[in-house]
Amino acid sequence: MTDETDVFHIMYTCRAMRRLKPDPVPEAVLVKLIDAAHQGPTGSNRQNARWIVVRDARQRSRIAELHRSGADAYLAGTPAAQGMEKIRAAVAWQRDHFDQMPALIVASIALAQRPADSFVAGLGAGGSGWPGVQNLLLAARALGLGATITTFALRDRAALKSVLGLPDLVEPFAVLPVGYPRGRFGPLTRRPLNEVLRWDRW
Ligand SMILES: Cc1cc2nc3c(=O)[nH]c(=O)nc-3n(C[C@H](O)[C@H](O)[C@H](O)COP(=O)(O)O)c2cc1C
Repeated sequence: MTDETDVFHIMYTCRAMRRLKPDPVPEAVLVKLIDAAHQGPTGSNRQNARWIVVRDARQRSRIAELHRSGADAYLAGTPAAQGMEKIRAAVAWQRDHFDQMPALIVASIALAQRPADSFVAGLGAGGSGWPGVQNLLLAARALGLGATITTFALRDRAALKSVLGLPDLVEPFAVLPVGYPRGRFGPLTRRPLNEVLRWDRW
């Protein structure tokens, strides 16, 4: 089975889709994506992931500015090594069109309190957001929508929080542009399994 309802087909063709059309995504579809994200597991079933869907043009352009400075820093710090040309070109394209993405979904975690140890916070509270993000990516792919995890706008976290009016204890951890793809979904580039799989011990 290789249709759009086969979860393995969806997983194996769920590329970071950076080139998107500006066409709006119906609100019901966006709600469906967030509902799928909300089904992801969270520690103790706290359900503390929060999803801010940004469609307003001014808000998008503010976030696009933050994304731009992070993307520029990434591109300046990543040498144009072999195999990186495609990613670099797509990152630059996305940077230049970020304000035209129809929806930016900001994945966040509502903390119960400010953790003392940011490493533990990353593993625990932060870990409760990523399963939902993966659900969102797969749901988008299944519905023919493209999406990418991005973190560039988070380099100035305080500025992003201020743009979104986030309460102190709500921490954003990813910004996902979502829209109809310009490119095609296709197979992923991954190392051979024997490089990452071990049985019983290292
Ligand atoms: C934690 C995390 C952060 C990421 N941040 C960015 C980002 O800021 N910008 C971007 O274009 N892609 C970002 N990505 C997407 C990865 O670059 C992408 O998933 C990876 O290159 C594999 O490509 P593929 O998903 O198309 O197979 C991020 C992915 C993860 C998991």
